Amino acid sequence: MEAPNNNISVLFVCLGNICRSPMAQGAMADAARKAGLDIRVDSVGTAAYHIGHTPDPRAIATARANGVDIGGLFGRQLTAQDFTDFTHIFALDGANMAGIKARAPRHSTARIAMLLDAVEGKEGTSVPDPYYGDEEGFVACWDLVNEAAIALIERFKRDGVDAEF
Ligand code: 4NP
Repeated sequence: MEAPNNNISVLFVCLGNICRSPMAQGAMADAARKAGLDIRVDSVGTAAYHIGHTPDPRAIATARANGVDIGGLFGRQLTAQDFTDFTHIFALDGANMAGIKARAPRHSTARIAMLLDAVEGKEGTSVPDPYYGDEEGFVACWDLVNEAAIALIERFKRDGVDAEF
């Protein structure tokens, strides 16, 4: 049997692109590397507040505590081109999903889903925004995005680029 097409590229989308989506990006890149899968991974915000900014120091510290370096990432905002540049776009929460849909061009080709649609029993739910909370929220955020990243890897291993969520 032919191996599934592995030309997969994944974009994670939150509001500011300094907390949840960079953590998801880091967890996914790490999970892909550990699984030996060559997947392009990036993250963006729907808002413009943090364009060019590195992730929140609490997000960097939480990722680092889990062996992942996200300190070199820089915030950017979702563009129309992202909808054809990436095979899969994942919203971290419901408001992010609304923002993605509002910006989707007619010729969009990416498969768009909520990140937690990949996790059995958590379909349709949101990753809470830890920005206004304390460190505990960042740890909880990491646990969720890491759980989702591992689930995504399993699905991409099985279904390749055709994986639907
Ligand atoms: P994120 O968190 O969407 O997970 O990156 C936020 C970061 C910044 C703001 C809101 C949420 N902000 O309002 O600046």
